[in-house]
Amino acid sequence: MTVTRGVRVAGKKAFITGAAQGLGAAAARRLAQEGATVALADINIDGARRVAAEIDAVWGEGTAFAFPLDVTKEAQWTFALEEADAAMSGISVLVNNAGISRGGNIEQLSLDDWKLVMSVNVDSVFLGTKHAMKYLRANEPGSIINLSSIAGLIAAHNSPAYNASKAAVWLLSKGIALHCAKQGLDIRSNSIHPTFIDTPILDSLRQIFGKDEADAKLARQIPLGHIGEPADIANAVLYLASDESKFMTGAEMKLDGGISAM
Ligand SMILES: NC(=O)c1ccc[n+]([C@@H]2O[C@H](COP(=O)([O-])OP(=O)(O)OC[C@H]3O[C@@H](n4cnc5c(N)ncnc54)[C@H](O)[C@@H]3O)[C@@H](O)[C@H]2O)c1
Repeated sequence: MTVTRGVRVAGKKAFITGAAQGLGAAAARRLAQEGATVALADINIDGARRVAAEIDAVWGEGTAFAFPLDVTKEAQWTFALEEADAAMSGISVLVNNAGISRGGNIEQLSLDDWKLVMSVNVDSVFLGTKHAMKYLRANEPGSIINLSSIAGLIAAHNSPAYNASKAAVWLLSKGIALHCAKQGLDIRSNSIHPTFIDTPILDSLRQIFGKDEADAKLARQIPLGHIGEPADIANAVLYLASDESKFMTGAEMKLDGGISAM
């Protein structure tokens, strides 16, 4: 079967963090399928290269590029963005997707784990946006898409760092949106808030309970009765990356199977 390439983001040049697997990889594949050139950045460079090669095999050489990046390191950001800008002849979409979680309630969580989660989930968005702005300015219209979580809007008893970090991403996205608007820039900034999605981020829970029991536990918390698929989130990234969302900025998209409606 021949798959035809769409045009919803034709000409867009997207830089995606945490793209070696999970939601970042799904977003890269979906954006490429709809015509974008994609830069996959990850601390796991082998994984990023593997996904980029798969995308190139489908859509042709030069569709996808891979770059090593630890999103907590400022010097690595400036280098990776510069390299991606050169490889793609511009950057018009930034997807701040890399993120981690660490378990433990407020009494159990170590300061080191708190700092690590805040750094990977929040410093990343600050550094990435700060240093991507010059490329986005040069390639308007631009779109900044930040992966928060439903856990940034609704707290749990055992996720203090994850909750706080994702709430920070939520409001940071809005502040960035207002900055861009005030500057008269055609650069939008929005956040995405998924509930549990079938990616390796669920592995730690699945190791404890087994996949079926873990997924069933999570599904019981979701009105739609099941966890989400990476494509559910990739489609939201696609919409925000495209000009279809040109009047949307400083907003949040909740893809939570109805959790936040309760
Ligand atoms: N899957 C879910 O259930 C879910 C729900 C809500 C929000 N999210 C958010 O979506 C984003 C993607 O989640 P996922 O499920 O794909 O996770 P994942 O664990 O499957 O993938 C995360 C990716 O980020 C990379 N990464 C981790 N630390 C990094 C660093 N310091 N620098 C660069 N890359 C780094 C990893 O190598 C990995 O490729 C995260 O921000 C996560 O918090 C996920």
